[in-house]
Amino acid sequence: MSRAQWSPQRWRDLPAAQQPEWPDADALERVLKELGDLPPLVFAGEARTLTASLAEVAAGKAFLLQAGDCAESFAEFSADDIRDKLKVILQMAVVLTYGAGVPALKVGRIAGQFAKPRSSPTERVGDVELPAFRGHMVNDDAPDATARIPDPSRLVAAYHQAASTLNLVRAFTKGGFADLAQVHIWNQQFVASSDEGRRYEQIAGEIDRALRFMAACGIDLKAEQSLHQVDFYTSHDALILGYEEALTRMDSLTGDWYDCSAHMLWVGERTRQLGGAHIDFLSGIHNPVGCKIGASTTPTEVVALCERLNPERTPGRLTLITRMGATAIADALPPLLEAVTAAHHPVVWACDPMHGNTFVSDGGRKTRRFDDILTELKGFFAAHHAAGTWPGGVHLELTGDDVTECLGGFGDILEGQLHERYTTTCDPRLNARQAIDLAFRVAELLRA
Ligand code: PEP
Ligand code: CO
Repeated sequence: MSRAQWSPQRWRDLPAAQQPEWPDADALERVLKELGDLPPLVFAGEARTLTASLAEVAAGKAFLLQAGDCAESFAEFSADDIRDKLKVILQMAVVLTYGAGVPALKVGRIAGQFAKPRSSPTERVGDVELPAFRGHMVNDDAPDATARIPDPSRLVAAYHQAASTLNLVRAFTKGGFADLAQVHIWNQQFVASSDEGRRYEQIAGEIDRALRFMAACGIDLKAEQSLHQVDFYTSHDALILGYEEALTRMDSLTGDWYDCSAHMLWVGERTRQLGGAHIDFLSGIHNPVGCKIGASTTPTEVVALCERLNPERTPGRLTLITRMGATAIADALPPLLEAVTAAHHPVVWACDPMHGNTFVSDGGRKTRRFDDILTELKGFFAAHHAAGTWPGGVHLELTGDDVTECLGGFGDILEGQLHERYTTTCDPRLNARQAIDLAFRVAELLRA
């Protein structure tokens, strides 16, 4: 199973969990061939730069902020959507950097996050049993049986949506919008009028003053690139392996394979089997990779995953994203921290406080409590403090919109309000106010 014998197709000989039942195998292969001829979305050199930045996180010198939609949607796709998502991530990064004095490495669940693993192959809508929705890259979320048939032409549509999203993200982050002088305009109307929005405004005002102070001291702010642009990376769950294979290209500089569908790829809790196709696929690409780790994961299993995904122990190559649940983390995380440290694996530890805390409300909607999310984060920081390891980052599902999908927070969204603006195609996301509130809490935990 060494990297030398690896090929982007090798996963096909292994059991692959969560793959759609494509009705027409020939049609699928035609689409994959088409994707294989299309240009890469990201470059190998960018993925290497991200590995280097993640190595800083692994060394305790930076903090990873990985965030975005649970599932990007073909229907909700506009410049405003993308801009508002970027705004909230940039605001959170400012809060973290200013509040905790640590650089925030920004990675979006964006420009490719179109496929979903499901706990059950079917779902009940009213009194009909339908094939589960698997993300817009596979089928449609409309509640009827034909919409749920996997359609491979959606893989091409996903590629093109990822390309235009990435194009806009690059323009926003490099073309002036992410300039620190714009720190005020990232605060959206509905956020600015809230407590957490006013708290953010205060920081923004202090940043303004600091910039004026530096200019007054004769520092040439125009020449300081890092004040005017941000580095923003893309990531998604490498779930549909045919798509990932088709976008995997050999880097002409190094001769190494890179999955050029995103800078970073991760595997989920349901697809990280040691002998499975997904882990084999991630083991061969040279991008930085992530692996979700649930509460039932054993220390032996985690160390085996580290060996498989990062045998050379390259710092920044592997991020372990724990998603254990507010009540389980205190017992489940410490043995894993101990085992990985003892095995000398230089991983980035990130906390996904979302996926272990999902439940169905009385009204039948999937939701999460802000307080549970916070409790899991506190448990994450406490376990790392006790183990002497660096709580390296957070992995969040959020949107720039004023949705009502997660309960609680400053605005105190109640169960009876969930239906008001519930627009996610999959899991419940933090709205912009809840996300900024959470950034302040994380900054406090980082400072402590
Ligand atoms: C997700 O990140 O949306 C997800 C499904 O996570 P997990 O694999 O951890 O359940
Ligand atoms: Co999710």
